[in-house]
Amino acid sequence: MAILILIGIVPGIIASFVIVQSYKNRAVALRTMNVKNQCDMLGTSIALNHSLTQADTSLLDSELAILSNVYNGRLLIVGPDFRIVKDTYDLDIGKVSMSKEVISCFEEGSGTTYFDSRNNYIEVTAPISEAGSKEIQGVLVASVSTNEIAQTVHHLESQGLLIAIAVSLFVLVIGYFFSLLLVRPFKRVTRAIEDVTDGYENEAISVPDYTETEQITDAFNQMLKRVRTLDNSRQEFVSNVSHELKTPLTSMKVLADSLNGQDNVPIEIYREFMGDITVEIDRENKIIQDLLSMVRMNHKSAKMNLEKTEIGELLESVIKRLKPIASKRNIELIMDSHKPVTAEVDPTKLSLAFSNLIENGIKYNIDNGWVRIGLRSDHKYFYVTVADCGLGIPEDQQGQIFERFYRGDKSHSTEIEGTGLGLAITRDAVMMHHGSIRVESKVKEGTTFTVQIPLMDAGSREAVK
Ligand SMILES: Nc1ncnc2c1ncn2[C@@H]1O[C@H](COP(=O)(O)OP(=O)(O)O)[C@@H](O)[C@H]1O
Ligand SMILES: [Mg+2]
Repeated sequence: MAILILIGIVPGIIASFVIVQSYKNRAVALRTMNVKNQCDMLGTSIALNHSLTQADTSLLDSELAILSNVYNGRLLIVGPDFRIVKDTYDLDIGKVSMSKEVISCFEEGSGTTYFDSRNNYIEVTAPISEAGSKEIQGVLVASVSTNEIAQTVHHLESQGLLIAIAVSLFVLVIGYFFSLLLVRPFKRVTRAIEDVTDGYENEAISVPDYTETEQITDAFNQMLKRVRTLDNSRQEFVSNVSHELKTPLTSMKVLADSLNGQDNVPIEIYREFMGDITVEIDRENKIIQDLLSMVRMNHKSAKMNLEKTEIGELLESVIKRLKPIASKRNIELIMDSHKPVTAEVDPTKLSLAFSNLIENGIKYNIDNGWVRIGLRSDHKYFYVTVADCGLGIPEDQQGQIFERFYRGDKSHSTEIEGTGLGLAITRDAVMMHHGSIRVESKVKEGTTFTVQIPLMDAGSREAVK
């Protein structure tokens, strides 16, 4: 508000000041010129008529009196000895007047003008001499009051101030209404956002009044969409997790209940049921383990413990760990690597990633099959391939297998144990290394996963954390 007032009033005041000043200057200049012309004319006429040297000065007196009346001022005539010979006020006759103007007028032979703005008067001098003649008989001095001009100026100034105030009030009111008008759509945006924040259920907001509001609401809607997607996937994840955790528990409960419900259960049945319960406990354990590794991988503070690692050795140790499972079904694990590859990676996370891939290669394989693990590198990346000769993945499922809890074809997922988290964990681990993962597969022929990871990427990896 204060700024609006300033914006309105300051230019108004400056404008009125400038106008009044220029009026004043012009009025004074006009008056000065008039008086000077009259004095020059009178000076010449006095000289021509030799009025000063004549005995009868009544004509001269009346001429002086008229001029003095017309301009409401005082006229003096100073003689060559600087004595005042005529004074329309009759105050200083006979006194010596040695003002700078009078002296200059005697010496130069031309009149002077002077404006005293403090005391509001103009002083004009004019030589009394015949036109063209050097002989100066005296100097005519006229002091004319400019009170009238000063009064007009004062009047104008106060009126200018009034106008400035009126204009600034007008500007203020108009500005206020305009700002209300301008701000209204933004208020609407705020209200719409608040509505969404309160209700959360509302649809996308829309305030298309200005391009700016449209941009803001578009950006907000985009954010809203992302938040909703995140919220949905979180809810879906929680419900999936609960479901997965409940399944083994339900089985255990059924097994335990049926044992409890019977008297004198034979020890063999007991053993069998207890064995089944142990299997369910293992399953529950595996799910929890997978969940924990996934949460650890996804956690914001998940640290990358980068180490210079021999990738070949890392793969060998993973293979060694999985050998017993593979040999149960007589599946051969073959490592193809031609030269050592060293890279800066987090060995724990990568081991888990490759272990999941190789484990899948074993699980979804045929008896007496094989899994080939390949390692190669170029100047920027290293590539690990895990290929099997197993069941393969139908093309329409290949896009989903990396999703959490996704398990392939129900036909084999019931026989082959799993949590559906393995590939999700693998993908997360690879992503954290700024790598990529690809799958190629043909049903009943086999599957090949290819992982590509930069050998060195320390700088950008830091930034991602
Ligand atoms: N090597 C593979 N051969 C055939 N199918 C596979 C292979 N790897 C993964 N799949 C399919 O992808 C799904 C998801 O795999 P994964 O995330 O490891 O979960 P899980 O192994 O616990 O089922 C599996 O259920 C399976 O259908
Ligand atoms: Mg798996």
